Amino acid sequence: MKKIILGFLASHNGSNMQAIINACKNKTLNASPAVLISNNADSVALQRAKQESIPYYHLSLKTHNNFENLDNEILKVLIKHNVNLVILAGYMKKLGPKVLNYYKSRILNIHPALLPKYGGLGMYGKNVHKAVLAANEKETGITVHLVDSEYDTGKIINQCKMPVFCNDTVETLSNRVLEQEHLFFIETLQKINEGIIKL
Ligand code: GRF
Repeated sequence: MKKIILGFLASHNGSNMQAIINACKNKTLNASPAVLISNNADSVALQRAKQESIPYYHLSLKTHNNFENLDNEILKVLIKHNVNLVILAGYMKKLGPKVLNYYKSRILNIHPALLPKYGGLGMYGKNVHKAVLAANEKETGITVHLVDSEYDTGKIINQCKMPVFCNDTVETLSNRVLEQEHLFFIETLQKINEGIIKL
């Protein structure tokens, strides 16, 4: 694969995006962060992109009057910035058919559990870890998968397991998983770069 040019979509904090940007900056990862699109004008992710001097856009149904126009605009922005790999880093919206078709097998999402368990509508943020603890799971993990038109159903490309401790709370578990996500996402991108993971 030629040099990875990353386009991020994020809705809130963007800590995974930040970890990947840092890895690009310190050359742990041979890739360039090119653009961030957020559906949330007040997201920390937008502030982070600004801070990093990465072009950023707020695109949502507030800026575009329907889903089709929004889909077209997101695609236009990604192409404008020469993006060849799209990273969903806590992006809470579905992507439209134009973006999905153009970037087929080139859109990755990270999910804080062992998909296909604990995925789908409503399974985001703390809800995921709450459900894992409620089911008394002894292990959880992280999944990186390709993105399709549904939530969390695309082909799994990398997964790692983590233990759930008997004294874990939603807080301790989500913090521990998120910290690990940062490393795991970078590791996954490195493997894509090296051809160990084929998209
Ligand atoms: C992460 O837990 C990720 O797995 C999920 O959304 C969260 C995003 O966190 N898809 P951040 O915005 O990268 O801090």
